[in-house]
Amino acid sequence: MSKELKVKHIACIGAGYVGGPTMAVIAQKCPDIKVTVVDMNEQRIAAWNDANLDNLPIYEPGLAEVVAEARNRNLFFSTDVDGAIAAADMIFISVNTPTKTYGIGKGMAADLKYVELCARQIARVATSDKIVVEKSTLPVRTAQSIRTILDAENKGLQFQVLSNPEFLAEGTAVQDLHQPDRVLIGGGQDQAGQAAVQALVDIYARWVDRERIITTNVWSSELSKLTANAFLAQRVSSINAISALCEKSGADVDEIARAIGKDSRIGPKFLKASVGFGGSCFQKDILNLVYIARSYGLTEVADYWEQVIKMNDYQKRRFAENIVSKLFNTVSGKKIAILGWAFKKDTNDTRESAAIYVADYLLNEQAELWVYDPKVKAEQVYADLDYLNTRSEAENRRLVKVVNDPYQAMDDAHAVAILTEWDEFKTYDWQKVYEGMKKPAFLFDGRNVVSSPALLGLGFKYIGIGHCVS
Ligand code: NAD
Ligand code: UGA
Repeated sequence: MSKELKVKHIACIGAGYVGGPTMAVIAQKCPDIKVTVVDMNEQRIAAWNDANLDNLPIYEPGLAEVVAEARNRNLFFSTDVDGAIAAADMIFISVNTPTKTYGIGKGMAADLKYVELCARQIARVATSDKIVVEKSTLPVRTAQSIRTILDAENKGLQFQVLSNPEFLAEGTAVQDLHQPDRVLIGGGQDQAGQAAVQALVDIYARWVDRERIITTNVWSSELSKLTANAFLAQRVSSINAISALCEKSGADVDEIARAIGKDSRIGPKFLKASVGFGGSCFQKDILNLVYIARSYGLTEVADYWEQVIKMNDYQKRRFAENIVSKLFNTVSGKKIAILGWAFKKDTNDTRESAAIYVADYLLNEQAELWVYDPKVKAEQVYADLDYLNTRSEAENRRLVKVVNDPYQAMDDAHAVAILTEWDEFKTYDWQKVYEGMKKPAFLFDGRNVVSSPALLGLGFKYIGIGHCVS
């Protein structure tokens, strides 16, 4: 590989929540580089190519504008994985790395079969030197396995494997990509490795300040990603642990968050007590970290991080149990409105959403649920519940109604449970909601989003997280 590399054609395998937005922004910022995003999921690619930008497979504020600017200029979406690999000089792997559901490490380790398939496909198809970039979140030392697979074909080609984990958060993906806190690139320490690192630095440097682009060795980069997610999730579990103590002691968790967040060593972010964190990554990545620590024999380290997940499970369960106990110990046959199904606001992603687990708990208690979410479709709600396998698909459809009108969901309900912090919930006519509900009218606010004094004066039995006002 020559010392100075200039990337002309990027391929990205995986057109999901990371591959799609990340590549759209790279294409937007680098009009001279051709960017081809490929996926084996034909439906997903068709949606990325849909002329109507409302039909993009992912909802993210600002994403449609970025796609509109770059699509069919230098950004292309395709199912031709081989073609894109062959043409590219840099290939991002952005495929999913879910928790294993079988075999050794079941329920803990990351399932790397999709990543390995990509590496094998690159090795098979490549006829020129490639820089392969790990964009997926991967266990430390995965780059070594990828490198071994790539080199095994013995074609006389030069492969460099870089780690470039993605730190975007859903709902703010475009903003995070345009103005990242940092970009992290790990690469080989030899001359060829450093040339590959520099090629990727040059791409990001088109719009990211150079001092925000951190370069490290590959293993530090891989492990930094798991560590960042573990630290973030740990903050949520920490404040949620305190929320339980607040409910017993009369302290208010939002006041505590404000008080401790002023300490510049602690900082104000990620201190919002909630019904529990969700999303596709926090749980999966911590489980993976725990698994890695255990596999190195580091039991105390593994136990320490595992507690973050246990606290999160406790928080979801505690919220659901509280609904049943406040509703006089039975919700059987009672209409309960669920406001919000996505794992956070401004996304249509429901993976590991706390709503799924709270709903499942209430359904086990034979509640009748009416679900409203501004961005999540009914099929997704049913698919999430069916996936748990707790009851038959027919039963899920009998007990759960998904509606497009929040007032219909809340009308004549015994209780409303807010599970996502959508801004629109704050602007509802809560007086009208109150009048339409059964009395006492319970409002369980799993996100502390509607706890204004005006609303509390309406007569609701209001139960928030980490404080209890009724
Ligand atoms: P996703 O499931 O939305 O997308 C992955 C895509 O890869 C799917 O569309 C799938 O069809 C495709 N795919 C899998 N194997 C393939 C193959 N062999 N050939 C072609 N296509 C293939 O996943 P995601 O949320 O985009 O996450 C991808 C990775 O990024 C994960 O490792 C995740 O941990 C990490 N990550 C995700 C986020 C996030 O916010 N979702 C943020 C940072 C990092
Ligand atoms: C998270 C990280 O923030 C990203 O940096 C990372 O790239 C990504 O995971 C990933 O690897 O997938 P994301 O899961 O999209 O991003 O969203 P977050 O904003 O981190 O929220 C995660 C969950 O924690 C949500 O359910 C959210 O409601 C909850 N949360 C967050 C709280 O309950 N309280 C808080 O103070 C913050």
